[in-house]
Amino acid sequence: RSYSTPRHLLSIADLTPKEFSKLVLNAAEYKKAFKAGGSIPDKIKGGLLGQPAVALMFSKRSTRTRVSTESAVAMLGGQPMFLGKDDIQLGVNESLRDTSQVISSMTSCMVARVGPHSDVTGLAEHSTVPVINALSEDFHPLQTIADFLTIHEAFPAANFKDGSLGLEGKKVAWIGDANNVLFDLAIGCFKMGVNVSVAAPKGYGIPDRMRDLIKSSGSASELFETDVPEEAVKNADILVTDTWVSMGQEAEAKKRLEAFAGYQITNAMAKNGGANADWKFMHCLPRHPEEVHDEVFYGPKSLVFQEAENRLWAALAALDGFVLNKGNIV
Ligand code: CP
Ligand code: NVA
Repeated sequence: RSYSTPRHLLSIADLTPKEFSKLVLNAAEYKKAFKAGGSIPDKIKGGLLGQPAVALMFSKRSTRTRVSTESAVAMLGGQPMFLGKDDIQLGVNESLRDTSQVISSMTSCMVARVGPHSDVTGLAEHSTVPVINALSEDFHPLQTIADFLTIHEAFPAANFKDGSLGLEGKKVAWIGDANNVLFDLAIGCFKMGVNVSVAAPKGYGIPDRMRDLIKSSGSASELFETDVPEEAVKNADILVTDTWVSMGQEAEAKKRLEAFAGYQITNAMAKNGGANADWKFMHCLPRHPEEVHDEVFYGPKSLVFQEAENRLWAALAALDGFVLNKGNIV
């Protein structure tokens, strides 16, 4: 094992457009190979066999991120080790620095779900192994890789150039809370030349520092912000939302539900706003009925369960890129 400074995946902002599109294409390749032959390609098979375990340090609940990561580690012949908030000393009885130094001395990778983003950067700062952000208050890179795999599958493009997925000029409309999932998704959109429109109630829009980061992620995309959902939906190819009450915001639930009244995604909203005829719907899950009507969530335009499954292939590509290949994404 090398003890040189490892490369971490804390946000899609850490990746060049070429690296980001490569992770998506690798995920697509592993998915295709598995579906065709019941096995992942030889070049990654057993890549974690005989290696130290992969630590999953989760201070919050998780279905998709935990299951996809544990499953991907197992597919690579490795041992996932789930450490929930009541299992380790992290943040309660031991500093982030000491925890990071100790756990990284015994593992191949730390996959961490945290509250403040500084917790995951703090782990990375003192780690001798790659740290992968499994959701912080600011970013959700594994979700964005899966989301772009889903968009790539829904809008396949032929003969696109290296560093692109051929999605230039497409439009993603986010209706709801401007949160961690949106920030990395929008950064990914800017890296791929995809336009972004965001409708959020006043006070729940994109913070200035995030707007700067999104806009600095690419020059070919536009970011449109409004508090009118129908305006954001205009000419959109993909409508996306997430919960209005993220983990950690439970005390604000009542206030938030009131603020977001009228933001539920419905077929009428898409039609009245003028979404493109072949629009698709995405949601990272877990979903609550208030943010999207059943007619959309379970309807023919919904990609949500394909998107959820794609978390597995995204996790596989991320572990391949950051652990097996030590951050050399090729
Ligand atoms: N989308 C997502 O990250 O889901 P979990 O919180 O269940 O991991
Ligand atoms: N925005 C949500 C995403 C959960 C996957 C949260 O932070 O709770």
